[in-house]
Amino acid sequence: MAIESHVLTVVDVIEETADAHSIVFDVPDELRETFAYTAGQFLTVAVPSDQTGLAARCYSLSSAPHSGRHQITVKRTVDGYASNWICDNLRAGDTLRMLPPSGIFTPKSLDVDLLLFGGGSGITPVISIARTALEKGSRKVVLFYANRDEQSVIFRSELAALSSAHPDRFVVVHWLESVQGLPSTEQLTAFAAYFTDYTAFVCGPAPYMKAVTDSLKALGFPRDRRHQEKFVSLGGNPFGDVEEMSAAAATLAEADDHDDSDDEAPSAVTGPITVEVELDGEHYSFDDWQGDKPLLEFLEEKGVDAPFSCRAGQCSACACLVLEGEVTMKHNEILEAEDLSEGIRLVCQSMPASEKLRITYNG
Ligand code: FES
Repeated sequence: MAIESHVLTVVDVIEETADAHSIVFDVPDELRETFAYTAGQFLTVAVPSDQTGLAARCYSLSSAPHSGRHQITVKRTVDGYASNWICDNLRAGDTLRMLPPSGIFTPKSLDVDLLLFGGGSGITPVISIARTALEKGSRKVVLFYANRDEQSVIFRSELAALSSAHPDRFVVVHWLESVQGLPSTEQLTAFAAYFTDYTAFVCGPAPYMKAVTDSLKALGFPRDRRHQEKFVSLGGNPFGDVEEMSAAAATLAEADDHDDSDDEAPSAVTGPITVEVELDGEHYSFDDWQGDKPLLEFLEEKGVDAPFSCRAGQCSACACLVLEGEVTMKHNEILEAEDLSEGIRLVCQSMPASEKLRITYNG
C-alpha cells in the first residue's frame, strides 16, 4: 500500500537570519484540501541524500492557516545534514517531496489565553499559533522567546509588528543568552507564575523545554494546559511503502541506543480483536484485527484515513487516546510517562493487549 506523498514547488526562500531560511511552497488547488493544516502542525519532507537516498525530516509550518500560505522555517544545526542541505540548496522553482501536514501540537481552542515558549528555531510552530490566535481568537497571547543573541532572533520584526497591531493582547518577552545567560527553571517559574491559568505551548532545544516544563509542573499547570513539541530525526523512511516501513521501524527499534525504558514488548494477544475508532466525527467498528500487524496498518487496510507521519514511533502524528482495552507499543520515542498514564498511544506502534479496543483521535 503506497503512502501518498506529494511534490511541491518552492515559490520563495526567505533568509530570516544568517542561519535560518523560510521556504514557501506552492500548493495547487487540487491539493489544497490535502494540505489544509492547523496552527502548530508540521510537514515531513524528503531531503535528497547521496548516502541513503533520502533523509526524512519534520519541519513546523511557521505560517498561519488563514494566510493560505505554506511556509516552513529551517535553521542550520551543526552537522545537521538535512537543515544544511535545505539552507544551501533550495531555491525558488525547486521541488521537494513531502507528506501532508500532521501533528498534535495544536490549540484545541483559540479562545483561551495562551502562554507560548519558543527557544531558537522552536519559534516556528509557536509563531504559527500566535499569528492564528491573534487573528482568529479573542484572548491574550504571551510569548517568552529565548535566543542565543540578537542576531539569531527569527521573526524579530514580525513579532514587533504583531505586538504593535495587538498592544492589548500580545506581549513578547525576549530573552538573550548573550545578555542574561540561559534561563533557569527558577527564572522561568517566576515568569510563568503570572499566567497560571493560561494554556502553555513549548518548543525549543531539549534542555530549554525541560526547564520550562519543570516550571509549569511546579506551578501546577495541569497536563491538558501544558503542550510541548519534540522533534527527533526520523530514522525510518515514511516515503516508502507500508511493508518497507514496518521493516525500517523494526530495524530502528533494534538498532537504537536511546533510552528505551518506556518501550513495551509486543503483545502476545492474538486476534480476532474488536476495534472501535472515533476519528473526525466518524465511528468505525471492526472485529477482525488479527494482531499480526500494527493498528495503523490494519486501519489503513480497512480504508480508515488514520493520521500518521514517521510510522516509527518518533513523531506522535498518529497519537490516539485509548478509551477501553489496551495496546502495547513496539517503540516509543516521543510520549512521556505522563502521556502514557493518560492513555495516549502511538497507533503506528500499537499491537493488541486486550480482546476489545476502543480509541479516539479526538482526545
Ligand atoms: Fe509518527 Fe506514529 S506516525 S509516531
